[in-house]
Amino acid sequence: MSIKNHNPKILIGITGGIAAYKSLTLIRLLVKAGCEVKVVATQNALQFVTPLTVETISQNKLYCDTFAPTEKFDVGHVALAEWADCMIVAPCSANMVGKLAHGIADDALSTLLLAFNKILFVAPAMNTNMYEHPAVQDNLRILKQRGVRLIEPASGFLACGTQGKGRMEEPEIIAGKVLDALNASPIFSGRKVLVTAGPTYEPIDPVRFIGNHSSGLMGFQLAEQFAALGAEVTLITGPTQLQLQLQYRNINRIDIVTAREMCDSVFEHFPNSDITVMAAAVADYTPATVADKKIKKTESQLSLELQKTTDILAELGKVKTDTQYLVGFALETDHEIENAKKKLQNKRLDLIVLNSLKNPKAGFKTPTNQIVLITREGKMVEGELKGKEEVAKDIIHFVARELNLE
Ligand code: CTP
Repeated sequence: MSIKNHNPKILIGITGGIAAYKSLTLIRLLVKAGCEVKVVATQNALQFVTPLTVETISQNKLYCDTFAPTEKFDVGHVALAEWADCMIVAPCSANMVGKLAHGIADDALSTLLLAFNKILFVAPAMNTNMYEHPAVQDNLRILKQRGVRLIEPASGFLACGTQGKGRMEEPEIIAGKVLDALNASPIFSGRKVLVTAGPTYEPIDPVRFIGNHSSGLMGFQLAEQFAALGAEVTLITGPTQLQLQLQYRNINRIDIVTAREMCDSVFEHFPNSDITVMAAAVADYTPATVADKKIKKTESQLSLELQKTTDILAELGKVKTDTQYLVGFALETDHEIENAKKKLQNKRLDLIVLNSLKNPKAGFKTPTNQIVLITREGKMVEGELKGKEEVAKDIIHFVARELNLE
C-alpha cells in the first residue's frame, strides 16, 4: 500500500473495546504508507492500549480527556478537525455510534467528531447482539445517510466467546480503504458543474399539483460523485426527501419547486458552468392558470388547461459555448436509440444518457438503473443494470474521458 498524495493527515479515534489492540497495527500501516497520524482515545480505550504505545507508534502526542486541562481541548478539537484530511474511528463502540448519530459531544473524541466535516470512516466493533440491535442498526443507517463511510464488521469468533458479526475489520483492509479514498485524484478540481435533479411540481390550486415519480436519486448521486472528484457543484433540485452527504462542502444545493423556477435557476448558473447535466424530470406542461382558492368538486367533470413549459435543455443547447459540455437525459419507451439520437441532435447536446423503461428495474423510482450513453460524434456505450451510485460513476468517468481529464 502506498500513497500518491503528499503526507495526508489522518486522525484515528479509538474507543473502548478489545479491538483497540488492532488500532495499533492500523496506525503503523498508515504511518508506513507515508501518512501523518494523530490519535484521539476515549478514557475506556486507555484500558486496552497505553498512551506510551500509541504515542510511540504514531510518533505524535495522544489526545485524550485526561489531557484536556493542559491541552485546552475545547479549542484543540477544532484545530485538530481542521488539521486532518481524513478521520477513522476504529474500533467504534455502540456507544460512540449512538453519540455520533445523535450529535452528543461529551468527551474529546465525540466533540472532535462533531467538529470534523471531511472524509470520515467508522469501523464498528461489538458483540453480535449489540450490533444487530435495532437501535444500533438505526444509528448506523443515520451515519450512512450522512455520508459516513462504514467499514462493516466481519464475522467470526468474538472476544466474548460467541460467534457472529461484530469483529472489527482487519487493519490491513481498513488501511487499504482509507488509502484508496485519499488516492482518489480530484480530476474535476477547478471545474464548475451544474446538475439538476428530481421532479418539478406544477401547482393547480393552493393544495394540489401535477408531479411525477422522479426520486432525485440519479441527480444527487451525480452531484456527489462530481464533488468527490473535486468539482465545484451546483445542484438544483425539485422536491425530494433526499439529503446530501455531509462531507461534500463543495456542493451548493438550491431547492426549487416548479419548472419555471428550475428554468430561472438553471439560467442563472449556466453561464459559469463547464459541465451541465440535466437529470431532472422537468414537467413538460403546467396548468395555464393556478386557482387562488381550492377547487371545489362541484362539476362532474373538470378540465385543466395546460401549457408547455420551456424546454430548458433545448434552450441551453442554443446558447452553450464550445467550451461548455452539455449532458441530457432521455426517458424512452420505444425506438429508444433512434429517439435518443434525435434528442441529442435537436437539443445540440454533447452526450445523452438514455434510460429505457423496458427494464422494470431501471428509471424513475428504482435504486438501480440501466443506461446507454450516446455522444454527438455517434459513440455509443451500453451499460449493465447497476446501483445508481455506480451508474453515476460510469457517466462521470465517461465525461472525464471525453474531456481528456483522465
Ligand atoms: N427537460 C428540460 N426541460 C423540460 C423537459 C425536459 O430540460 N421542460 C430535459 C430533462 O432534464 C432531460 C431531457 O430534457 O434531460 C429529456 O427529457 P424527456 O422527458 O425524455 O424528453 P423531452 O425532451 O421532454 O421529450 P418527450 O417528452 O417528447 O420525449
